[in-house]
Parts: sequence; C-alpha cells; structure tokens
Amino acid sequence: MLRETVRGWHAQGQRVAVVPTMGALHGGHLSLVHEARARASRVIVTLFVNPKQFNNPADLAAYPRTEQADAARLQGQGADILYVPDGDTMYPPGFATSVSVEGLSDGLCGAARPGHFTGMATVVTKLFTQTAADIALFGEKDFQQLRIVQRLARDLDLPIDVIGCTTVREPDGLALSSRNARLSPTARQQAPALYAALQTAAAAIERGEAVQVALNAAASTILASGYDSIDYLELRAADDLAPLAAATRPARLLVAAWLNGVRLIDNVPVHAESPNLDGVISMTSPT
Ligand code: PAJ
Repeated sequence: MLRETVRGWHAQGQRVAVVPTMGALHGGHLSLVHEARARASRVIVTLFVNPKQFNNPADLAAYPRTEQADAARLQGQGADILYVPDGDTMYPPGFATSVSVEGLSDGLCGAARPGHFTGMATVVTKLFTQTAADIALFGEKDFQQLRIVQRLARDLDLPIDVIGCTTVREPDGLALSSRNARLSPTARQQAPALYAALQTAAAAIERGEAVQVALNAAASTILASGYDSIDYLELRAADDLAPLAAATRPARLLVAAWLNGVRLIDNVPVHAESPNLDGVISMTSPT
C-alpha cells in the first residue's frame, strides 16, 4: 500500500521525503517535517518505537506512546502520510539480519548503550527501503546517529540523500527532547547549563585554548550546575567523528550527562582554528 502510493508519486516525478521518528512528537520533530516539506513534494513521517535500539527493557517500557496526539500534532504541518508499522511488519518471526556500522558506532553514545546503534541502523535501513524515499531528514541533536545513517546509506548504495537539520532549542538553550518532561522543576532549571558549557568551551577552543583545558572547565561547570555525572564530553571531527586533540579541522563538541536520573545529550559545532597568520603581509590597498 505504502509502496504503491510512493510508486504513484514517483511516476508523477514527485520527490519524496521521509522523517523517521519514535513518536512523542515535539518541535524538533516538526522542524524536520517543515524542512522535508521545503525540499520535497511529498512527506512521509514514520512512527515506530524500535525495540532493537533499546538496550534497557525498562527504558523501552517507559518510552512515551502518544500515537493519537502525534497524529493530531502533525495536522497542518505538511506531512502526507503517517506510517506506523507494527512489530511484526518490522521484525517478522525469524528476522535475522542486522546493519552494523563499525567504527562510527563505537564510543560516545555507543559506549554506554551497547547494541543501540545496530538496532537503530537496522530499523532505519528498513524504513528507507519500505518508504523508497528520495531524501531523509535527521536532527543534528543526535549527531552520532546522523553520521551513522549517512555512512550506511553510502556504504549500502541506498538511493537516498540523508540531510542533517539544526537542533531546535527551548528559549533558554535546552535542546528539545521527549526526555525533558521527566526532569523535576529544579532540574529543568539546571538543564540549560549543558548547552551553555558547550558553547563556552567551543568558543574557547576556537580562540586557541588547549582542548583539554576547555573540556575540563566545561565538565566542572556542568557538574557544579547540578548534573550528577558525565558519560562523555569529547571533541570529534565533524565528518568521521575521529577523536581530535585540537580543532585542526571542522569539529563537534559532544556531551552526554545525567541530571535528576535523566540522560541528556547535546552537541555544538567547533570551527577549525584559523591558520597562524604571523608573518603574512597584508596586501589590502587603502582605497
Ligand atoms: P526520535 O528520538 O523520535 O527522533 C527522531 C528525529 O528527530 C531524529 O532525527 C532526531 O535527531 C530528531 N530530533 C530530536 N530532537 C530534536 C531537536 N531538538 N531538534 C532537531 N531534531 C531533533 O532518533 C530516533 O527517534 C530514532 O533513533 C529513529 C531514527 C527514528 C530510529 O528508530
């Protein structure tokens, strides 16, 4: 049914976009739908709470399931189809295949959540083939996920363009996330310190401060602001997520930290240090 509809759209020369989600839709998800609408004439939003990407059964059980409200939120947002496959459609009995993106899936969120990215990559590959979309929109909020999906599409020759979209934030800087609702009122007030610390550290690194000094200062600020612990706080290359000791090329500062029993993640760009211009004579004429 979905395939036939998409085939019809393609026959009319229409470009089709897919926005994969696990529901509990918020403004971050809706921004992807709007971007999809701007780039394609048809938009499919998928909603599937993917059991294979939860390494903790309690986390899966606690995941918000708000399908009716999600369908209502999508009204008037420019989506043509809300595709909600059931468990058997995604994983029929005997399902035995997985998609695993080596290297990129190690470290950062992959370290604390074994199997998470393989489960994610497997379901995303299936959603891409089921929808036969031409483009897919993913949030930079989940930066490692975005890079893994881009790599799998390239490695498996999937005919789909994977586009990253800017993180949507609350006015105080906290990245929108379905997990934010689990924060106590006090924790909710403390939460924006994560993004603030990332911004300060990124600016310091761009000014030439030693990366480790900037990261240590950020970690201290995050913990002093009420966060209980930090899973990781790292500078990585923006393209292949290689660990970086200095911002010698476009980079990303990524963090995961626990606040009030809730694990929050965020990341910001770090522009490459400008080359040392000492000794370069200005050639600008005064006129
Ligand atoms: P989910 O957490 O529902 O997120 C769906 C998409 O919304 C992802 O691309 C995510 O990066 C994006 N998103 C979440 N918060 C955002 C924000 N504040 N600003 C911009 N985009 C934001 O990520 C998943 O689901 C799943 O892993 C999925 C890809 C659907 C596979 O199951």
